[in-house]
Amino acid sequence: MSSESTPVSARHFAYIADRTRAEDASLGELKAAAHAAGIPPIWISPEQAGFMQILLRATGAREVIEVGTLAGYSAIAMARALPGGGRVRTLELDPRHADFAEKWIARSDVSDRIEVHRGDACSTLPAFASGSADACFIDADKANYGAYLDQCVRILKPGGLVMVDNAFAFGRLFDEDAQDQVRAILDFNDAMAARPDLHSIITPFGDGCWVGVKLAEPAQQQ
Ligand code: SAH
Ligand code: DHB
Ligand code: MG
Repeated sequence: MSSESTPVSARHFAYIADRTRAEDASLGELKAAAHAAGIPPIWISPEQAGFMQILLRATGAREVIEVGTLAGYSAIAMARALPGGGRVRTLELDPRHADFAEKWIARSDVSDRIEVHRGDACSTLPAFASGSADACFIDADKANYGAYLDQCVRILKPGGLVMVDNAFAFGRLFDEDAQDQVRAILDFNDAMAARPDLHSIITPFGDGCWVGVKLAEPAQQQ
């Protein structure tokens, strides 16, 4: 074993999960309702939600951009970590997902902090003002991750927090002959690691979550 890192196993993740704040009942109801409505059962894990909430709290984020709403789980989780007056602007292409999310956001405790913006994020993101967000979470179609990142970095203030889901490509990161979404993630991960305007790292929560900071000056070294 390396002296610098302990290899993390499923047992470690169970250990972490056992020491993570439990998901509240209303998010459990949202998941059950999504299943019943035939909405894809896709949402961040409670551990990833807790991790992202801690980052939002630690950075004092007020304005968050999310690309990919689906059922609204991550939007609600993030909104709960913002101060009063904070806002999540979440972008969703599929009208069925947007309808479901809006309904569940409206009955949540953070309904006044979340706006759902409908349409293709490739078209809607360019309308958001530069320097108008403290944090972003990218979690939509993987082929467009590079375009979403460019837009989000523009929209973030210097020092802004970048979070990107699925760095482990749905658990298929090391598959032979990776195709489509997995290939897109592999390419994105390499591009993300090479960006001089961000200081980023993959963390192993959920399906792998990139976290990064928008640098005021490009970094030369760690
Ligand atoms: N962030 C959510 C999960 C998002 S799943 C959570 O953790 O709770 C990905 C979502 O991205 C899906 O709802 C999908 O419809 C949406 N999506 C796909 N392509 C998109 C696009 N071009 N613009 C906006 N949203 C898109
Ligand atoms: C899928 C998409 C996601 O963003 C995710 O976190 C898990 C699964 C999917 O498209 O299957
Ligand atoms: Mg995801």
